[in-house]
Amino acid sequence: MKRRINKSERKFQSAGRLPKPKDLNEHARSQWTWTKMGLLLMCVLSATIPILMHLFSDYVDLSQPSDIGLNHTINIYLKPEEGVRVGVWHTVPEHRWKEAQGQNLEWYEKALGDGSPIFIYLHGNGGNRSAPHRIGIANVLSAVGYHVLALDYRGFGDSTGEPTESGLSTDALYLYNWVKARSGNSLVCVWGHSLGSGVTTNTAVKLLEEGKQFDGIILEGAFLTGEVAPNQLFEHAFSWFYWKFPYIQFFLFNPLKNNIVVFPTNKNLQKIRTPIMILHAEDDHLVPFASAQEIYRIAKKAQNSDERVKLVPFDGSLGYLHNGLYKDPGLPNIIREFLQSLKA
Ligand SMILES: *[C@@H]1O[C@H](CO)[C@@H](O)[C@H](O)[C@H]1NC(C)=O
Ligand SMILES: *[C@@H]1O[C@H](CO)[C@@H](O)[C@H](O)[C@H]1NC(C)=O
Repeated sequence: MKRRINKSERKFQSAGRLPKPKDLNEHARSQWTWTKMGLLLMCVLSATIPILMHLFSDYVDLSQPSDIGLNHTINIYLKPEEGVRVGVWHTVPEHRWKEAQGQNLEWYEKALGDGSPIFIYLHGNGGNRSAPHRIGIANVLSAVGYHVLALDYRGFGDSTGEPTESGLSTDALYLYNWVKARSGNSLVCVWGHSLGSGVTTNTAVKLLEEGKQFDGIILEGAFLTGEVAPNQLFEHAFSWFYWKFPYIQFFLFNPLKNNIVVFPTNKNLQKIRTPIMILHAEDDHLVPFASAQEIYRIAKKAQNSDERVKLVPFDGSLGYLHNGLYKDPGLPNIIREFLQSLKA
């Protein structure tokens, strides 16, 4: 287009007819300039908008926990299965934070055998290990003097692979064995929040099948799906869930939505003989408090003990809802006492 206009410009000029065609030409040229500028602007914007969004969003590079102030945490990747790589943050006890500065993987792995209790943290649905309420729990455990290993299951965060119910507990089991290979005689406990409570009891049962067990289990905001007959499961799995447990929608969406979700915590509790502490906010808006009471009842009956199974309610007036327990000033003591009961 440009070339043609230039040619006609020359023609007009040589013909000595000046004013009008020149105006025309200038008009075309300025139009072209605007088009060019517009195109350029679009290129620039399409390149910079993602960068700007990146800068102004609360983007977290999961491989660099120190970027968000976790100065005694290291990121590691484990391979629970061929083709699956999961990201894990290892936070050492807070009293070791100074020593931890600038340390490498080798130092962290060795630190795991320092005799301090260790928690494997299994998070809930959605997001990744950098979510504030998850970091909140890790910070509480670290401040009390424990190691924390916070896992992103396959398909979550920067972990590769497809999230399935059995895949999630395969990852947790792998992490447990990885920890045990380095932890000496330290207590190794598990903390399962929300969906992670289902992964926790599934993993505990898988461990039992290998003749092993966690030293203690903490379930926070834990849910119960109850029993589902196999035929029901496939015919009207979802309507059944919705009807009986409306909050289950929350768990079924993203990223497990395409997989049938069972989490037979009820059945699992019949087999588990590990001390369990159940933490639940009375105002939990996603998993009703009644779910915790039911889990408590089932576990207490299965273990035939008031000592080994505890339920700690958090008053609704505190406003913790489903994720906020980490804010409780009494939480460190509650955890400490539970761990002391394990050593006794
Ligand atoms: C992890 O979550 C943070 C928000 O907490 C988000 O900014 C980040 O993009 C997520 N990363 C991945 C890889 O999912
Ligand atoms: C490192 O983390 C610890 C524990 O959270 C904190 O007390 C300390 O102030 C932090 N140090 C720096 C230099 O950020």
